[in-house]
Amino acid sequence: MKILKLFLGAVVLFSGTLFFTPPAGANMASGAVLANTCYSCHGTDGKSVGDMPTISGKSQKFIADKMKSFKAGKLDPTVMNRIAKGFTDSEIDALAKHFSGK
Ligand code: HEC
Repeated sequence: MKILKLFLGAVVLFSGTLFFTPPAGANMASGAVLANTCYSCHGTDGKSVGDMPTISGKSQKFIADKMKSFKAGKLDPTVMNRIAKGFTDSEIDALAKHFSGK
């Protein structure tokens, strides 16, 4: 019985390190994950079907500059100012990179 308990303890410890070690870079969400937030308005993968501007395929600089201007309260957007404020500059860069396809 004692052996079994030791064995189970080892299994629990081992699976603990296996499943609960965060992957490298987990504290910064990737552009691909963050991009899910944008699909509801800009279409799946940022390709809009309606009046909403398509954002995928635009240059990384264009997207990042727009987002940072929205965030800074420049331009006169309806919703993007509020959305852009929810992201750090490095997250904006990751999003811009993702949508530019680079
Ligand atoms: C609630 C709907 C909504 C969501 C969610 C949304 N957007 Fe927008 N986006 C808009 C609208 C509407 C505009 C046009 C500007 C405005 O009125 O705010 C726009 C404009 C833009 C533009 C400028 C495009 C151009 O050609 O001028 C970029 C870049 C952009 N959004 C990026 C994003 C990114 C990146 C996300 C996800 C983090 C996102 N948007 C999420 C509604 C949305």
